[in-house]
Amino acid sequence: MATSLDDFVRNLPKAELHVHIEGTLEPEMMFALATRNGITLPYATLDEVREAYSFADLQSFLDVCYAGAAVLRTERDFDELMTAYLRRATADGVRRAEIFFDPQTYTNNGVGFDVFMPGFLSAIERCHSDLGIDSALIMCFLRHLPVESALDTFEAAEPYLERLLGVGLDSSELGHPPRDFELVFDRARAAGLHTVAHAGEEGPAAYVWSALDHLGVERIDHGVRAADDDALIARLVDSGVPLTMCPLSNLALGVVGRLEDHNLKAMLDRGVKVTINSDDPAYDGGYILDNYIATAQALDLSRTDLVRLASNSIEASFAPEADKAAWLAELAVVASTG
Ligand code: HPA
Ligand code: ZN
Repeated sequence: MATSLDDFVRNLPKAELHVHIEGTLEPEMMFALATRNGITLPYATLDEVREAYSFADLQSFLDVCYAGAAVLRTERDFDELMTAYLRRATADGVRRAEIFFDPQTYTNNGVGFDVFMPGFLSAIERCHSDLGIDSALIMCFLRHLPVESALDTFEAAEPYLERLLGVGLDSSELGHPPRDFELVFDRARAAGLHTVAHAGEEGPAAYVWSALDHLGVERIDHGVRAADDDALIARLVDSGVPLTMCPLSNLALGVVGRLEDHNLKAMLDRGVKVTINSDDPAYDGGYILDNYIATAQALDLSRTDLVRLASNSIEASFAPEADKAAWLAELAVVASTG
């Protein structure tokens, strides 16, 4: 008997390349950490939290997400947050996770690299040995803050650069073009780090060009608005620069009105290296498997499309080539027997 769609997608080895660890903070954990750390939340009950998760746009989400992250204070908090995400991702068939974190959100709360980095890293190492999931950290700069703050953050991260996979750019997009962050991205690249940036989520296709040309990024996070510009699509196809798309996030934040109108399938068919990811799963309505399933149903994706999306995710990851080859070989077997 043919496997269910759910089992088929779960069993595909895949990489998650666009998830913000702050966006994996589930309401239950938010309450538990607030109690443990003596922090008063603006919500009295879990239902009140869920009611607050109704977003008009990116900014209304970011305000709620950054406020929630204020409960994260100790090394143990960061370890528990990362462990919960990695368990959940493993259950969804994720073999490799490249995870964003926003250091400025924590340092603005008086919590330093010496607190969150050991917490994240101990969870990553333990989950690698206990669950087999391979994961790495991408440090994002908040684009609503000036480049000077990003440069200070890069300096503060210096003792931990060996433990970072790359740098990224997130937060409020409109009015904050990638070009503004050229200096800090040059520095990161010189230090041997990979580079990615959010672009074309709410911002125009011009911001995707700017991320490619001024920041030299290897992947674009979201890139929905790239579809407005045929020359840009040609550039993405020719260069093989992947898009890390997050359909349920786009729906939750009003980037698309209906999932049925998402351009992910059209981009895939045009030859763009598209991937499916979760972005902020505790806030946006789903983890990576939910994103694959909802997108498959809304856009009528075939099993061949789903296998392509999973293989794109592995190819688009920054994992060592030998690991990618092993996951792709396994994917070919699952795809042929599923
Ligand atoms: N866009 C920008 N910044 C973010 C996002 C996003 O989707 N999620 C968390 N920070
Ligand atoms: Zn994001």
